[in-house]
Amino acid sequence: MEKKRVLIPGGAGYIGSHVVYTVLKTGKYNVAVVDNFHNSKPEAVRRVEQLVRDESGDACGDVELIEADLRDAAAINKVFADRPANDRIYAVILIGALKAVGESAEIPIEYYDVNVGGLLNLLTAMDKHDAKRLVYSSSATVYGAPETIPIPETTPMDPHSPYGRSKQINEMIIRDVCAAHPAWRAITLRYFNPAGAHPSGYIGEDPCGKPGNLLPLLAQMAVGKYREPGLKVFGNDYPTPDGTCVRDYIHILDLASGHLNAMVALDDDAKFVNAKNDGKYRAFNLGKGVGMSVLNMIDAMRKATGYEFPYEIVGRRPGDVPNLTADPALAEQELGFKAHHSLDEMCRDLWNWQSKNPNGYS
Ligand code: NAD
Ligand code: WQD
Repeated sequence: MEKKRVLIPGGAGYIGSHVVYTVLKTGKYNVAVVDNFHNSKPEAVRRVEQLVRDESGDACGDVELIEADLRDAAAINKVFADRPANDRIYAVILIGALKAVGESAEIPIEYYDVNVGGLLNLLTAMDKHDAKRLVYSSSATVYGAPETIPIPETTPMDPHSPYGRSKQINEMIIRDVCAAHPAWRAITLRYFNPAGAHPSGYIGEDPCGKPGNLLPLLAQMAVGKYREPGLKVFGNDYPTPDGTCVRDYIHILDLASGHLNAMVALDDDAKFVNAKNDGKYRAFNLGKGVGMSVLNMIDAMRKATGYEFPYEIVGRRPGDVPNLTADPALAEQELGFKAHHSLDEMCRDLWNWQSKNPNGYS
């Protein structure tokens, strides 16, 4: 069977590398990764290729790695234009973006330039070269601080940062494109909190510098880094069972598999009959539907790593919201998506990656 080529901008990053792995493992697709390595290394893609080949041999697809910046319209157009007729881009999974909430408030122009400008360059090239299938990486951050928990997709978007607004704007742009042109089909995936790694420990999250996010920080502390001045828990006066913030942590391989469900749904017109005026456009949560507090996660990582994680409670971190837990029902009903991995598996796999690669890919 001839394999179709899927373009994955951002495929060298944390989520991207696991999505590339998952897409290749089907044996149905070849992949082209576009990345400028702003927050990643080519080594991640090399390892994905190696891992898939070790596991599946020649049955899996191949990977082209193209160093290019999403802001460079000519380079992005070239990715689609410079291809033989039997190897056109069939669909795009747009993962590449700037993603740090705090930083986005400091350099909003860069965030809109990469995230929104990058999407526009991509849509333009996709339109021109008749590659009109898109899966888009959005975030639970578009919901802001919703009152209804678990959060259904019908919750109005109310992001609190330039980063979150770039996701909201992009969702609206993609919806408008689908509404205007019947040939376009797109699915937005609103990720909750991805964590963990492939169980081989061969690929995983490799943040630059001290991690700002909880799980990668705990993993690096367990391996001996950043132990001073100690872990700070940002607030225990939230309206949650133990007073610390609650999040919906989802194993990275579950999250990655959701992209396959979306790819299949893109070709199923029945999935879009409820989209009404949006053409063939839908948005889905990718979460487990289980809320875990900061203290729950410290306990789970203590169990996985054996490290005690001494911590102190400090004031709230600006921008944090009490509870972001997905209602996963729509994705289950319509995409057949379900997150299967347990919390313990997530922490075990994160620790396996971190302990085998204390310095990430370097
Ligand atoms: P990441 O930084 O590991 O991956 C992003 C990739 O995009 C990196 O490889 C980076 O080099 C690349 N990139 C950045 N700017 C680029 C540009 N101008 N041109 C080409 N490539 C560029 O981040 P991640 O955690 O894997 O996140 C991936 C996506 O998922 C992002 O869209 C992010 O907003 C979204 N998301 C992430 C989380 C999370 O907790 N990690 C949660 C919700 C949504
Ligand atoms: C989780 C909880 C912190 C560090 C972020 C983005 C979100 C999405 C996913 C992209 C919070 C607490 C953390 C620490 C702590 N990314 N914490 N001490 O904030 O839920 O989500 O990543 O779309 O947009 O905001 O994740 O891991 O940073 O924090 O107490 O040193 O851990 O306050 O309650 P968050 P996180």
